[in-house]
Amino acid sequence: MKVLFNASQIDQRVRELGREISSSYQGDELFIIGILKGGFMFMSDLVRHIDVPTTIGFVRLSSYGDSDTPQAEVKILDDLDEAIRDKHVLIVDDIMDTGQSIILFKKHLQGKSAASVRVCTMIDKTERRSAPITPDYYGFHIDRGFIVGYGLDYAEKHRTLPDIYMLEQTNGG
Ligand code: IMP
Ligand code: MG
Repeated sequence: MKVLFNASQIDQRVRELGREISSSYQGDELFIIGILKGGFMFMSDLVRHIDVPTTIGFVRLSSYGDSDTPQAEVKILDDLDEAIRDKHVLIVDDIMDTGQSIILFKKHLQGKSAASVRVCTMIDKTERRSAPITPDYYGFHIDRGFIVGYGLDYAEKHRTLPDIYMLEQTNGG
């Protein structure tokens, strides 16, 4: 494994994102929904740098595994108790890859009449994007490769590492 983004680069970028998000939402209140498990570390760092009034919630979304069959509905494993209606919602996750899971969750929230729904991911990984969506805010861009650390896992390993690593390239997964 090779370090791709180290903890101090991540910290600097997260601070910048916090400032950018804070200025976009000046005068509003924000409801941040973290996606478990991958988004937990990024979200906990990010919220410390957001200076508009913010409440938080968490969900777990079902994984698509290796299936490339489009699914009609995202399975939300822990739904939100908090009402979404008329709130400015920011979804926070570790990485956007194909975009399939987040686009479905975003539609789900729009169906609950949120005032707005935006997406922030630590990593925007673009080569395999198949859903018509890009993150409104992101930390770093990569084209391809499988990364771990800072919340990101490979078979549940490496989530707790403070740096982001590129796993030795296998077959694109
Ligand atoms: P997608 O955008 O719906 O394809 O799915 C994104 C999810 O796939 C992320 O939330 C991660 O759980 C997982 N994922 C995609 N790429 C990577 C990676 O490079 N490392 C670790 N997890 C990844
Ligand atoms: Mg995830």
